[in-house]
Amino acid sequence: LNILVLHGPNLNMLGLREPGIYGSLSLAEINRLLEEEASKLQASIISLQSNHEGVLVDTIHEALGKHQGILINAGAYTHTSVALRDAIAAVNLPTVEVHLSNIYRREEFRHHSYISPVAIGQISGFGVQSYLLGLQALVHYLREKS
Ligand code: DQA
Repeated sequence: LNILVLHGPNLNMLGLREPGIYGSLSLAEINRLLEEEASKLQASIISLQSNHEGVLVDTIHEALGKHQGILINAGAYTHTSVALRDAIAAVNLPTVEVHLSNIYRREEFRHHSYISPVAIGQISGFGVQSYLLGLQALVHYLREKS
């Protein structure tokens, strides 16, 4: 199994960025923990971070034929991007949505996700554990399906 891990805008700033909300781990450290979890699950991952909506859309399209599922933290694009949602719907790859923070206990504008309706499920509020649990859930889902 080969999973695409996508990190959206501002997640390259993790560690420095509002650590009270997002924790003190850098994106590189999160990716390393994801690699470890993937190898425990006998799966592999490729991670990409972009601040550009179009790059994320292109990467989702290119996942077809390369990856069996997508783990995504779309950052602020979660709440704004019909294009990302449509890209996920277009490739129709099983997708799990994750957030470090609990988006439902924060500002009202974070309560709506364009990604959720095209995702298998969402994990929000557990810091880096959101990613690790999301990866587990996605791998289990893909194994059940095949
Ligand atoms: C986030 C939550 C979003 O509302 C925010 O814009 C982010 C990070 C999270 O992981 O908690 O950039 O997706």
